[in-house]
Amino acid sequence: MPRFLSSRPDSRLIPLPWEVPLADWPIDYLVALPRGISRHVVRFIKVGNSVYAAKEVLEELAIHEFRMLTDLHRTKTPAVEPLAVVTGRLDRHGEPLDPVLVTRHLEFSLPYRSLFAQGVRPDTVGRLLDAMVVLLARLHLVGFLWGDVSLSNILFRRDAGEFAAYLVDAETAEMHEALTAGQREHDLTIATTNLYGEFSDLEAGRMLDDSLDPLKLVESILTRYRELWAELTGVEEFSDQEVFRIENRVRRLNALGFDVAELSMETSTDGSVIRIQPKVVDAGHHTRRLLRLTGLDVEEHQARRLLNDLDTFRARTNQGHVDESVVAHQWLTECFQPVVTAVPPELRGKRESAQIYHEVLDYRWYASQRENREVPLLDATHGYIHDVLRALPDEAMTDTRAIGEDRQLSNPFDPSQGFVDDDGPMPVDPWEVDEEEVATPGFLDIEALRAAKKPR
Ligand SMILES: Nc1ncnc2c1ncn2[C@@H]1O[C@H](COP(=O)(O)OP(=O)(O)OP(=O)(O)O)[C@@H](O)[C@H]1O
Ligand SMILES: [Mg+2]
Repeated sequence: MPRFLSSRPDSRLIPLPWEVPLADWPIDYLVALPRGISRHVVRFIKVGNSVYAAKEVLEELAIHEFRMLTDLHRTKTPAVEPLAVVTGRLDRHGEPLDPVLVTRHLEFSLPYRSLFAQGVRPDTVGRLLDAMVVLLARLHLVGFLWGDVSLSNILFRRDAGEFAAYLVDAETAEMHEALTAGQREHDLTIATTNLYGEFSDLEAGRMLDDSLDPLKLVESILTRYRELWAELTGVEEFSDQEVFRIENRVRRLNALGFDVAELSMETSTDGSVIRIQPKVVDAGHHTRRLLRLTGLDVEEHQARRLLNDLDTFRARTNQGHVDESVVAHQWLTECFQPVVTAVPPELRGKRESAQIYHEVLDYRWYASQRENREVPLLDATHGYIHDVLRALPDEAMTDTRAIGEDRQLSNPFDPSQGFVDDDGPMPVDPWEVDEEEVATPGFLDIEALRAAKKPR
């Protein structure tokens, strides 16, 4: 009789065929979704209307990973959500089977190999690295030493024009009160080694743009990380004539998506020198603000975009003097909801609602430029649905069996194994299909932020 370790028991897990090794589960229980390369057997399983990820792994590791993911969940750090560990499994002959760690499938997410399969534009690679660096810094801020930083252990979701990175593999992780500089360097060393290998591999498979060099890419991770870390935690010293620098620091952190929960401030005995250092910073500055105002819970860059739109709405409707939460409610019912409900139900699996809203705003901007007039939001929505959304593949759950219609996957439940005939491109990348996009500098451009926030 298997045992279920879980903080929120799900009785629908009980009738599953735990006496069968995961690799042999009948396909009625499985969903074919893209996933990254892994040492363990990982399958996506159907549980009622939900999809869970199941990984067969040694007991000690399963329980350790379950606890690590639970800690991350508690600290609201982006990672897959742990649901249960199933232990005490015996096969039909009474022989023990390894336990299974069950996590919730992260909807609208993709492993990096699916992303790179059809060629990723060079600036997209920079955005993925920014997302990874932010994830690493967030993990380090909560005292999480990852130990196995790699692209295979990250899932990416669209986040307006950027990406959000989620941790997917916590087997080797350790949680500490706080990390030392040496521990953080350890993770960075692992990150650079693993990513160098992964980028070289993509290069060998002709999936990396010619203009990109694996070595330069991994070096840029180090600079990006160190700049971000210095911004998040570094000491700043200035004279009492420059107190505006406190405000500047907070604003720069906000622009990077962080709130300062605790700022230590010291002054020299004569009061002429001020020293500040953020002690506690929380990620999700814009996400929290949008949640408070509208109840929408979205990714950080999406939240920023939606808040900008809310500000524009407020100005356009001349409501500068009206309470912000009142205007936010109006914006929700007059702008956001009509766009989301205009999307026919069969197209809802293509993008998350907040992402659709963001893309409609982009579409409207282009349409207005083209037509030299302010295109109404709902007209833009219908145009977007017709011209863009219909043509896009589903992202909520990309069924890999639908991908290579004329080519056969070696194993539809493990697309990371590639196709039976191993030449030609890998499975389609739903994230790079004919998307009109202007190249803009990444948001993690800290030099630009510092320059922008200097008083004139
Ligand atoms: N909850 C989830 N949602 C979406 N995808 C998932 C989830 N859990 C696992 N995956 C997919 O399965 C892949 C393998 O998972 P994981 O990295 O945990 O396996 P592993 O065998 O421990 O890997 P490693 O070889 O790095 O030890 C991931 O790269 C990811 O694509
Ligand atoms: Mg892994």
